[in-house]
Amino acid sequence: MIFKNGTLLTEAGIVNADIKVEGGKITRISFDIPTAGDDVKDVTGLYIMPGAIDGHTHFGSRFLGAKEPIPTADDYSSGSEVCLAGGITSIVNFFESSNNPVSSLKEEINKAEESKVDFSFHFIVKKKEEITYLKDLFRIGVKSVKVFMAYDSIRLDDLSIMNVMKEVRSLGGTVAVHAENGDIIKYLQENEVGEEPIYHAKTRPPESEEEAVNRFASMAFITGVRSYIVHVSTPSSLNVVKYWQRKGAKVYAETCPHYLVFNDEIYLRKDGKRFIMSPPLRSESERKEMVMRLGEFYTVGSDYSGFLSKFKDEPASYRDVPNGVASTEFLVPTLASLMFQGELDPSSFVSLTSGNQIRLYDIKGKGMKEGDDADIVVIKKEEWKVKDWHGKMDYSIYEGMTFKAKVDKTFIRGELVYEEGNIKGGRGKMLKRS
Ligand code: URP
Ligand code: ZN
Ligand code: ZN
Repeated sequence: MIFKNGTLLTEAGIVNADIKVEGGKITRISFDIPTAGDDVKDVTGLYIMPGAIDGHTHFGSRFLGAKEPIPTADDYSSGSEVCLAGGITSIVNFFESSNNPVSSLKEEINKAEESKVDFSFHFIVKKKEEITYLKDLFRIGVKSVKVFMAYDSIRLDDLSIMNVMKEVRSLGGTVAVHAENGDIIKYLQENEVGEEPIYHAKTRPPESEEEAVNRFASMAFITGVRSYIVHVSTPSSLNVVKYWQRKGAKVYAETCPHYLVFNDEIYLRKDGKRFIMSPPLRSESERKEMVMRLGEFYTVGSDYSGFLSKFKDEPASYRDVPNGVASTEFLVPTLASLMFQGELDPSSFVSLTSGNQIRLYDIKGKGMKEGDDADIVVIKKEEWKVKDWHGKMDYSIYEGMTFKAKVDKTFIRGELVYEEGNIKGGRGKMLKRS
């Protein structure tokens, strides 16, 4: 198969070239590749990007901050269809354990067999006792873990976080963190009278995030581990990350599409509870600065945490609403729209959606170079309005929004798996990580 006359989006910028695919792999990228009996896909006027890698999904998971487990709406099967429609060809999904982390990983791998996109896992360390299992998890292929600094039932104390860092450093992996100061939030929640959704944002101010980012980065610097802050929601936290990078810490920042698109006024809407996530959406001026400084982030992850409207609408107080939104299908359209509007350069677009994920998660065989899997996404510069989406969610924060970029076709290992709204196939494999 040959993609002919494409405009290729690469980390080195825009390149006009053809791509030859044989046996599911990219075998040549060059000008005017001769077509002799090949299946020719003429992509004149369209843009070609490496399949996006979403390093932040919670498919087939539950909300960990609640007493009663509340399930996410999508599992690996339906969630991976959301990915295909969104130009995402690989995911790194979070999993946790209630007993033995090694048996939990084996169960998770079985569940992931349903996935139509390639997959790997991050392990959530909820208790310091789980540190002893990390060696075995790494042997099976997990190379990254997440710790929490907020949510009472799962957060770790600083000494335990440093012990996780020490172990992961010696194993050669990455530590991710949910950086919010749990005690600041608890203090504000105990002293705040309101129960409406806006109080979710008021009790988790930017300072509660900044403080945790700074504390985590200090510990990462001291232990020397490679680390990153997931779902950074505000420019002031990014400033803290930049400070530690200048000092030489191997610390990176991930943000999510929703922090680039929405602001905290949404919590005043009648259906405001549906958009409760942590960290919360910030002010309009913070959102604008996030967009302006998007190139300073290392990755964008969707933080897929979709909960059906019944679970979001039911609780009387913001305190009992499961946290999260479903941004996966709109990650690539959000960033590509910014690119087409001239607010994000093509090279950063590719680094943020796949290039840096490959480096941060030690992923092998992806990236749209000769020899890589032919995970290729065709995007169109076209205005469209969100009326519908894939997966099991019964509402979307993006409903009614206009984008300037549309995912047209998705290929995994050269197989057409999504075309103009329709899922065509897909059989995911476990990602190779070194
Ligand atoms: O509100 C959020 N982000 N929920 C998902 C779980 C997490 O903390 O990443
Ligand atoms: Zn988190
Ligand atoms: Zn998350």
